[in-house]
Amino acid sequence: MTGWRIGVDELIFFHLTDTHLTGGPDELLFGQADPADGLRAVAAEMRRMDLQPAFIVISGDLANHGTVAAYKRLRTLLDEEFATFEAPILLNLGNHDRRSAFREVFLDEPGVDEATPYYYSRWFGGVRVLMLDSVVPGETFGLLGEEQLAWLERELATPAPIGEIVVVHHPVVHRGIIRHGEDGLILRDRAELARVLDGRPVIGILTGHTHVVTAASFAGTTAFTGTATAFLGDPSTRDGGRMLNGAGFNLCTVRDGTLIVNSIVLPSDQRVLFTYRSSDVTSARAH
Ligand SMILES: [Fe+2]
Ligand SMILES: [Fe+2]
Repeated sequence: MTGWRIGVDELIFFHLTDTHLTGGPDELLFGQADPADGLRAVAAEMRRMDLQPAFIVISGDLANHGTVAAYKRLRTLLDEEFATFEAPILLNLGNHDRRSAFREVFLDEPGVDEATPYYYSRWFGGVRVLMLDSVVPGETFGLLGEEQLAWLERELATPAPIGEIVVVHHPVVHRGIIRHGEDGLILRDRAELARVLDGRPVIGILTGHTHVVTAASFAGTTAFTGTATAFLGDPSTRDGGRMLNGAGFNLCTVRDGTLIVNSIVLPSDQRVLFTYRSSDVTSARAH
């Protein structure tokens, strides 16, 4: 189990999601909140824990409008706030992101077509992390597509000794109570994903997008959704959404062949920042 930071039987990592970074402190979300504040608060709490994560993963909606300026600001913030961990930061993309701008800033790959998905895997000891790309440009729902699923199937053909962790922005299960228009907010080809994962040693799926802490059974494993660092979602709305001030993240541990997720929501006033109706969701701008 080489590569594990603490002992041979414990792998610690942090799961963050939905940073929704803007291009600068004057560009507020809902005219009220700077998403950098939540990210800084989460980072401070992570440092307070005095743990040694093997890696940090952020599951999409990295930038609120997918601009080069926002990705540059995010890169600077990650350097400032997370350098102390000396841990790799694994990023994937959500419906608010723009692949081309992300690639230009983070991968030094300018000029790549927006339609080219960004997916990859990384090993940490006996654990493989599969970073998927569910973005459909201009849409709020997610889709992996046949090509990416075929790649995933090839990866999984060699099973990870400890387990596989799948990270994807769009949830593979609904947020909870039945909500009007919810099919427009989920991973569309989740049944095909379940087929590819069937029988494989998948110890968990980590997602974002809803900004609501959720744990659900799926395809013989557990799917976890973390809350956002930018703002919280209210799980009780039957129509549309109610977004609240606040931030959180997941402390994750792999031990005894199991992925254990501790969700941390930081104290906040949870004031309402924004509400919308399901009928308002006409573009990739929701969640
Ligand atoms: Fe999203
Ligand atoms: Fe989001």
